[in-house]
Amino acid sequence: MNLYPNLSQFSSKEFALNEDPVAAQIEFRRVTKMYGPIAAVKDVSLTVRQGEFVTILGPSGSGKTTALMLLAGFAAPSSGDILISGRSVAAVPSYRRDQGIVFQSYALFPHLTVRRNLEFPLEMRGMRAADRVKRVDQMLERVHLAEFGDRMPAQLSGGQQQRVALARALIADPPILLLDEPLGALDRNLREQMQGEIKRLHREFGKTTICVTHDQEEALTLSDRIVVMRAGQIEQTDTPEALYDRPVTRFVANFLGEANILEVHDFQIETGAAQPSGTVAMVRPERVCIAGSGAPKRADAEQRQSVTGKVEDMIYAGPLRRYQVRVGGSMLIVREHVASGRQTFKAGEEVCLDWLRSDVRFVER
Ligand SMILES: Nc1ncnc2c1ncn2[C@@H]1O[C@H](COP(=O)(O)OP(=O)(O)OP(=O)(O)O)[C@@H](O)[C@H]1O
Ligand SMILES: [Mg+2]
Repeated sequence: MNLYPNLSQFSSKEFALNEDPVAAQIEFRRVTKMYGPIAAVKDVSLTVRQGEFVTILGPSGSGKTTALMLLAGFAAPSSGDILISGRSVAAVPSYRRDQGIVFQSYALFPHLTVRRNLEFPLEMRGMRAADRVKRVDQMLERVHLAEFGDRMPAQLSGGQQQRVALARALIADPPILLLDEPLGALDRNLREQMQGEIKRLHREFGKTTICVTHDQEEALTLSDRIVVMRAGQIEQTDTPEALYDRPVTRFVANFLGEANILEVHDFQIETGAAQPSGTVAMVRPERVCIAGSGAPKRADAEQRQSVTGKVEDMIYAGPLRRYQVRVGGSMLIVREHVASGRQTFKAGEEVCLDWLRSDVRFVER
């Protein structure tokens, strides 16, 4: 289902309110936000380039919403500064920051119809009533809600409310889009569709976008870069690929996908490089191969480390088999794509695991 089928009929220029697209680089300079003794955001520095899609990812309570609230001007930093296009916004009230916002719980105005919800940002910007009506009509059409303009938010489904919230954030053509768990309330299918739509809207409109989520798949799918937060601080900022392939800390390795931590007391870890102090060795489950204990050696065996273990459990996960294999005192996870001819191992079987030494990463404890 395409939620915005008419989008390509309008060029973003045609739909733009701002004649010249406004450059909107965002910069956090050592920003801290205290709530009493708690640092909800702690010494955060971050630069988001014009047109970039950055996702803030982190567990509950890690400071994601607070970071967005500071940027939107709904809260003020306790220290540090936030700059938009090179200028401090410390003295700029939220309604003058020219940002489209979708809140965590899609907070539409419950007492206003869909149409009035969409008109609100335009009214705030002083647009004439006749122009507002035209623009709202266009937008309703684009989000496939043309018949719903006179409904109240409570009379819409979750997905419909989400679309209204996105439409409202975009309608005044702001240079910056802030999305806080924009798809949090949706079921998996609708969520995936809407992810595609958000990505497409970003391609089309090129807004500088900051999106908050605790869903790692969503972050990997949508983002140019991901900021991983933990307890108010940035743990690592990188592209999705780099973050997944070269996590700096154990927390990041575990937060984005599964990680096998290789414990030295179980076996001697063979790697090309010396292990930096304070780190542990990690290998991703899909980098580990599983074979029967009597299987012949691989052609590239000298580049690989192999260990023996015992299968404790195997589950089918759609196109994957996920094994838990006991090796010494550790449980290693193996993810293998189901392919015809591949042997399936059962609980209790002795197996041989191996991986390329170059696939081992060192992450801070
Ligand atoms: N207005 C407030 N007053 C006091 N403490 C607050 C306030 N807002 C947030 N906090 C605290 O700051 C920390 C960060 O909260 P925040 O809402 O930014 O987390 P989050 O990462 O968005 O979490 P979630 O994924 O659950 O939405 C939490 O410990 C929270 O309890
Ligand atoms: Mg939040």
